[in-house]
Amino acid sequence: MIQLIRGFKDILPGEVELWQKIEREARELLERFGFREIRIPVLEKTELFRRSIGEDTDIVEKEMYTFADRGGETVTMRPEATASIVRAYIQHKLYAPDPARRLYMVGPMFRRERPQKGRYRQFYQIDAEILGVASPLADAELVFLLTSLFRRLSVADVEAHVNSLGCAACRPSFRHALQEMLASVSDRLCEDCSRRRSRNPLRVLDCKVPECRAALAAAPSILDHLCTDCRRDFDLLQNALAALGVPYVVDPRLVRGLDYYTRATFEIQTGALGAQSAVAGGGRYDRLIAELGGPDLPATGFAIGFDRLAEIAGLNPEELRPQPDLFLAALGARARQAAFAWYCRLGERGIRVAMEFGEKSLKSQLKAADREGAAWVLMVGEEELARGTASLRDMRSKRQREVPLAGLVDRVAAMLTE
Ligand code: HAM
Repeated sequence: MIQLIRGFKDILPGEVELWQKIEREARELLERFGFREIRIPVLEKTELFRRSIGEDTDIVEKEMYTFADRGGETVTMRPEATASIVRAYIQHKLYAPDPARRLYMVGPMFRRERPQKGRYRQFYQIDAEILGVASPLADAELVFLLTSLFRRLSVADVEAHVNSLGCAACRPSFRHALQEMLASVSDRLCEDCSRRRSRNPLRVLDCKVPECRAALAAAPSILDHLCTDCRRDFDLLQNALAALGVPYVVDPRLVRGLDYYTRATFEIQTGALGAQSAVAGGGRYDRLIAELGGPDLPATGFAIGFDRLAEIAGLNPEELRPQPDLFLAALGARARQAAFAWYCRLGERGIRVAMEFGEKSLKSQLKAADREGAAWVLMVGEEELARGTASLRDMRSKRQREVPLAGLVDRVAAMLTE
């Protein structure tokens, strides 16, 4: 038997209702705040991710699903959405006439990481971006939206972490201080960090290897190097969160795994997922649009790990299971034919319908109706056909009434939707 690929998964009925509920809530919340959906391709030119996420990142170095397509072009299955959204923003001139755009997308991403709980090779993100807005209030809004959504989905045990990574003016001074410190512990760093420490020292701060973490205990804090503007923006972000009553911790080590960030970065972390503590992450990327060939415009955004959120949402999938309004139980071929027409018509009218197509006893059909949680059962057999009525049973009260066959669809539809 052919099994699915390691790190990939099926989301089956029973679980999928939870995913639908989360997606509904997220879309509703984002659209209330003016975000519009964008659908972007799964495949992009590899160059797009190399240039945006960064050559020295784990994603680009080790995790991308990259291949030459049959025409010889090197393409990559998107490992994240921000790069593609920025590409679309530039390509379709979504910045004109007004650069401010709020966009969101929901869909699968691909990273060839080592699979474990909360980490998959195909995973899903709910991604939201505010493009063309420089104010730290946009960052505050994003953190607020994340915490608000998580509260709505009864996610317990989450904590917002925020940091600032500085800008082109102040980052070099931090980079320099960090490089000097890293040189002093170079013999204790893992292979990746040894390679990255001079080219891209911020990546070392993001390393998960315990020896590297220990070696970095005395690393300088980016927050001591922020320029006046970055400091002001970081204070504004924190003040806005405090005013909204959003609890957060300042985490100077939060550099995130992608190279495009400037200034604010943030993550929602949880203790509920073992090693994979980040349920959502994001931040500002004020240089990316220009770096990808667009105008010099700021932007900020986040992505939620949908799989991780589904694992920790405090919702009972059993309660979300869709149940039929009406089960049609027919006895005999003629009755089945009549019931089948009602089944189709009532379904079309907005009633959730269920029916067994095979020849089954009434008892077994009632059992099936019960199992599926049907609210009503419409019963029809030869006798009813001859009498010109069908019996409608309320499965809760067990009370039954007769419904004339003439105009049955209208009558039942009216009764069940009133
Ligand atoms: P990221 O931190 O790479 O950021 O991913 C965002 C979230 O996706 C993570 O916090 C995590 O919950 C989830 N995630 C990442 N990898 C996996 C995986 N292998 N399995 C399951 N879940 C995973 C970004 O992707 C940025 N594009 C976020 C952003 C948007 N920044 C600005 N705008």
